[in-house]
Amino acid sequence: MPDTAPVPAPVPFVDIQGQTRRLRERIDARIRRVLDHGQFILGPEVRELEEALADYVGGGHVVTTGSGHDAILIALMAEGIGPGDAVFVPAFTFVSTAEAVAAVGAAPIFVDVDERTFTLDPADLARRVAAVRRAGVWRPRAVMPVDIFGMPADYAAIGAVAEAENLYLLADAAQSFGATFGNRRAGRLAAATATSFFPAKPLGAAGDGGALFTEDAGRAAEFRRLRVHGLDAAGDCLSVGMTGRLDTLQAAILLVKLEAFPDDLERREAAARRYDAALAAHVEVPFRAADRTCAWALYTILSDRREAIRKALADARIPARSYYEKALHLHPAFARFSEGPGSLPVTERLGRRNLSLPMHSELDAATIDRIAAVVAAAVSAGRT
Ligand SMILES: Cc1ncc(COP(=O)(O)O)c(C=O)c1O
Repeated sequence: MPDTAPVPAPVPFVDIQGQTRRLRERIDARIRRVLDHGQFILGPEVRELEEALADYVGGGHVVTTGSGHDAILIALMAEGIGPGDAVFVPAFTFVSTAEAVAAVGAAPIFVDVDERTFTLDPADLARRVAAVRRAGVWRPRAVMPVDIFGMPADYAAIGAVAEAENLYLLADAAQSFGATFGNRRAGRLAAATATSFFPAKPLGAAGDGGALFTEDAGRAAEFRRLRVHGLDAAGDCLSVGMTGRLDTLQAAILLVKLEAFPDDLERREAAARRYDAALAAHVEVPFRAADRTCAWALYTILSDRREAIRKALADARIPARSYYEKALHLHPAFARFSEGPGSLPVTERLGRRNLSLPMHSELDAATIDRIAAVVAAAVSAGRT
């Protein structure tokens, strides 16, 4: 007898096409306008988007960039960070964070993360800054917390260490645009903030994109120059920069996505709450810090039964991913800055236990319930 059990429909991990379908007419109209005026480089939509982003975060200056990585690079270059300097970063993050530091010639110094929020641990930061000062090889210059999975780092405690140690505070908010800490949004929590509009991010373009946020007009002007080869309005090259600007077409698409963004964030929050309610009895669900809201770039559980859960989900055609299983301090490119395995115990434990489930603005209740039932069954099977 052939097996006639219905094959479940595959679930997307991130449903960018679903969101595009929902916004398609407005996106098409915006694209048409750009094709009509033809200002593909730094056209009017770029400035319009920068103003809309500043409005959204409640003030400050915004400079869009070609990607999140470009934004981090430009922020480091603007501060003159380079050879001999140490920049403190987590290892529980995407390559870009430490790579940008090494690309400007500085040393990424890895700091462990907090067990609950997965973000930079302020106490370990203070210890590592002291150790670098004692060793005397690198000059502590900056700290770059990462708002991993959409959860802001502890900017109050990290900011206090940064101030005491005279470190430039640069936020890697690539995953957290839309999140809040206290009464402030990501973008207004550090001297400079970089975010990414990579398509899978909470606010995603139809290609690469990013932005820098700062309260300081002079710093914003330098960001603007650096994204166009350090050129000023007169065409003089004032400092060594790069091609790091956002395309007008991406700005036009992002203007539509930004209008929909508050609603998208609520959809993500509702999905996270439904996951929490269904999963809290079975696995460790994401920690909710009372002083923060999360942008839910990813919804990530912890479990010692991770491999069994992953297999059960795969059998049910549900994708799930473990991020930073091999954290940055274990990658060959950063070996010379790393103390190797065992040097970041929390980071390494999270790498072994985390699993991100599908999360996006189009996720419906029935799909969440289906995913949660598979997770719960996989955990229960291990108990019998
Ligand atoms: C934490 C983090 N930092 C930096 C980046 C780099 O952003 P982009 O891919 O836009 O260059 C990303 C995203 O990909 C990221 O997740």
